[in-house]
Amino acid sequence: MVLATSFFASLLLLATAKPMAPRTMVAHESRAASAEGFVQSAAAPAEQELTLRIALKQNNIVGLQTELYKVSDPASEFYGKHLTLEEVAKFVKPTNDTLAAVSSWLSDNNINAKPVTPAGDMLEIKIPVSQANDLLSAQFSVFTHSKTGKTIIRTLQYSLPAPLTQHVEFFHPTTSFALPLNSRPKFAAGRAKRATPGSDDLPDSCTSTMTPACLQLLYNIPTAPATQKSNTLGVAGFLDQWANEEDLTAFLASFRKDINSSTTFALKTLDGGSNPQNRSQAGIEAYTIGLATGVPVTFISAGDDNPDGASGFLQVSNLCNAYMQLGALGTSLLFASGDGGVSGGQSQSCGDFVTPFPAGCPFITSVGSTGGINQFFGISEVGSDFSSGGFSNYFSAPDYQTEAVAAYLKFFDSLGTIPPDGRFNRSGRGFPDVSAQGENFEIVLDGQFGTVEGTSCSSPTFASIIALLNDELVAAGKPTLGFLNPFLYSSAGRAALNDIVFGTNPGCGTSGLPATTGWDPITGLGTPNYTALRTAVGL
Ligand SMILES: *[C@@H]1O[C@H](CO)[C@@H](O)[C@H](O)[C@H]1NC(C)=O
Ligand SMILES: *[C@@H]1O[C@H](CO)[C@@H](O)[C@H](O)[C@H]1NC(C)=O
Ligand SMILES: *[C@@H]1O[C@H](CO)[C@@H](O)[C@H](O)[C@H]1NC(C)=O
Ligand SMILES: *[C@@H]1O[C@H](CO)[C@@H](O)[C@H](O)[C@H]1NC(C)=O
Ligand SMILES: *[C@@H]1O[C@H](CO)[C@@H](O)[C@H](O)[C@H]1NC(C)=O
Repeated sequence: MVLATSFFASLLLLATAKPMAPRTMVAHESRAASAEGFVQSAAAPAEQELTLRIALKQNNIVGLQTELYKVSDPASEFYGKHLTLEEVAKFVKPTNDTLAAVSSWLSDNNINAKPVTPAGDMLEIKIPVSQANDLLSAQFSVFTHSKTGKTIIRTLQYSLPAPLTQHVEFFHPTTSFALPLNSRPKFAAGRAKRATPGSDDLPDSCTSTMTPACLQLLYNIPTAPATQKSNTLGVAGFLDQWANEEDLTAFLASFRKDINSSTTFALKTLDGGSNPQNRSQAGIEAYTIGLATGVPVTFISAGDDNPDGASGFLQVSNLCNAYMQLGALGTSLLFASGDGGVSGGQSQSCGDFVTPFPAGCPFITSVGSTGGINQFFGISEVGSDFSSGGFSNYFSAPDYQTEAVAAYLKFFDSLGTIPPDGRFNRSGRGFPDVSAQGENFEIVLDGQFGTVEGTSCSSPTFASIIALLNDELVAAGKPTLGFLNPFLYSSAGRAALNDIVFGTNPGCGTSGLPATTGWDPITGLGTPNYTALRTAVGL
């Protein structure tokens, strides 16, 4: 925060130095029409205030990427030597020229800007629609999402003074209509076939429903509590997903009889996010507290109450670069790969199926879902038919996975069921990276026992395993795992995962993308084996 304030000060200082003359406007971003599913309803009210974020050109993002891979690749001598916030800021902060150009333009227009990132590479301004239209030669309008009735304010085009185009990445929200992930687990009320929730008839009961005990047994997850308070696990709740304390207590009392059922989470809110206890919609966060035994869990609630639609979700998913920065700092980021039927997002994987944005970002770990009969009986798990996977049209395959993806494409070509051209992008970043069980998870929702399924069951499961490994690493005086993918795709990482070879990706029509030996775009590299992962990370 102190850093952010000092950048703001220097911004104002520079602003007075060099006023600029009026100049030609150049279109900076545009699109032919609104995204599918949105209808343009009216001009935005002239006096309505817009909160706009300005992403400034970062001075050396390529340099930061090099650093990220150095500290995340087990083969590198710098492995685990994560960067400090100040070191990351050096790469992402804008140059003085950029700051001078943008701040004098804003001050010429009597606009106050506030840096909203520690490095000052993202500014926030609040201006009425009429001024935004003038400033950016834009036409901000109201767009209605037909399915949900939600309205957002966007413009199909905006422009910048010519000399500024080299200093500004983008304004947000303007032309982006990215829709949130449709990865909320589907709740089915009414309990599974077992007589008592959490009963100990393992492993037989695990063929019908999943519980923490089943996952512990299946993936060799330890039950002993973590010891290191510095190692935390964050769970992000978006779009009406809340963590309910009473449900959590009921869940733990049924499914983790061996731990204190009053164990709870810390809460952090972003952008007007809240955690109303009268409307619980998530429930699945119980699987972090219920699996990552003793690891401090923070529930991050992102708000969605801005009239201009600059919701916490969009902010968090906006910037793959931001994930790169978190990785360099030593944070592991895991996202659900998304559930079938997703619409929106930024890039197509195949046919009319669309890659949910975070999954395509190469600096996060994307988690797909498995289910079916499982390893207790010597039978492999099966990729879930709702679990998204594919290839990004926006991000190319990063080095750590080129070999794995090439091997898959070779296998796929050998099947002779090549889908029509353009069904998927052979050079794109493949996802998911890994997978974990995601079907028939027993949860408590609004006091009711029931089951849920979805990749958002898989992601907390995998994240809990990483959190427990980090706990052991910290206790052993070793660095935490940070950005996981270079390790996961290494031979040591791959050997510590259960390769899943059954299941077919639902997103690619009738032919489908089947799972196979090695990486595949439905189960990734496979599901976790804690015992083997422990050894692979050097414990
Ligand atoms: C950028 O500005 C800061 C503060 O005014 C100054 O200390 C620094 O030397 C400048 N950097 C360059 C490369 O000019
Ligand atoms: C369980 O946790 C709660 C909240 O931290 C605490 O007040 C209570 O004493 C604990 N109970 C036991 C048996 O440790
Ligand atoms: C939950 O509580 C809030 C604030 O007390 C209230 O505004 C909201 O309508 C309530 N929601 C439900 C579903 O009861
Ligand atoms: C395929 O993905 C690459 C990035 O890897 C992208 O540059 C290219 O535009 C994509 N092709 C299509 C047809 O979208
Ligand atoms: C998990 O790893 C351990 C240790 O490497 C190994 O003995 C065990 O067979 C593995 N489990 C599975 C299901 O592969």
